[in-house]
Amino acid sequence: MQIRPQTFNVTPIIMRVLSGIQPTGRSHWGNYFGAIRQHIALQDNEQAFYFIADLHALTTIHDPKLLEEYTREMALGYLALGLDPQRATLFRQSDVPEVAELTWLLMTVTPMHLLEKCHAYKDKKAKGLPADAGLFNYPVLMAADILLYDSDLVPVGADQVQHVEVTRDIAQRFNGIYGEVLTLPQAHVVEATAKVPGTDGEKMSKSYDNTIEIFEDPKRLRKKIMSIKTDSTPVEEPKDPERCSLFALYQLFATPEQQEALAKRYRAGGMGYGEAKQALYDAAIAYFAEARARREQLAANPSLVDDILKTGAQKARAKAREVLNRARTACGLGQARL
Ligand code: TRP
Repeated sequence: MQIRPQTFNVTPIIMRVLSGIQPTGRSHWGNYFGAIRQHIALQDNEQAFYFIADLHALTTIHDPKLLEEYTREMALGYLALGLDPQRATLFRQSDVPEVAELTWLLMTVTPMHLLEKCHAYKDKKAKGLPADAGLFNYPVLMAADILLYDSDLVPVGADQVQHVEVTRDIAQRFNGIYGEVLTLPQAHVVEATAKVPGTDGEKMSKSYDNTIEIFEDPKRLRKKIMSIKTDSTPVEEPKDPERCSLFALYQLFATPEQQEALAKRYRAGGMGYGEAKQALYDAAIAYFAEARARREQLAANPSLVDDILKTGAQKARAKAREVLNRARTACGLGQARL
């Protein structure tokens, strides 16, 4: 008799998806197409936990006002762009102080060499720059972020996969000593589904100073778009859309029909880049119009965002307490006498 795998009556397994977003300022098009969009899509079928990693941001931002502003901005952005607080849990990392405690427990089982090879610290050291203990221990805090909520899946960019691997190593060491306490997570690499060039044609990134912000004021948005670098092909001559970063950006926002129409204009000659820039401006404005309106509504009502973050933190904290208690008990600390 042939044994067939059972494909019926299977209860779908809901995974806990978790990711942290550093509040490093206003989000730009590269952030949106590279990560935010994928994060938001994951809220539909999985149990998603997303938090604003303000504790991590302290390794680079030492301006309290700025940190607060960026944190709020990031929450506003995610909510405006479609994160649904009824489905996903959105919270601020520092609203769950249990994470700091778990970080300590994890540090006591983390070998130095594991952290010495992590890129943020290693790169800084290689450049001869002074690194603080926060940067060195950054991956342990990140491991605590992930392990504190029994996360199964961690959607991250390729640069963060190393940190998820370190998280697994740390969890395995902890479990090796104390038993099966922590859930081993899996990294889920969010592929940038599209190329997002910046205003200079290089990859759009804050560190290249070539970004276009999602919620840029329309006047400045136009100015930025007009400053996008293009080649010097004269107006009359045909142009190649495939080799034009302006066109690559247009593709992010336009329908296939619109893309085809503009590509034709490129190839036919007689079109200046100014016209393509105007088309990009119109398409980008239309694409984010709804999010922009929602952002304005939310920004006008700060207590709404506070309430969302508060409810998120309560939900996250309930889970965090459960896992932390498990870890404390395993180590012989037991529950705190409070
Ligand atoms: N280090 C991540 C970044 O810079 C942000 C982050 C912090 C994170 N904690 C996390 C991502 C936990 C995933 C899971 O992008």
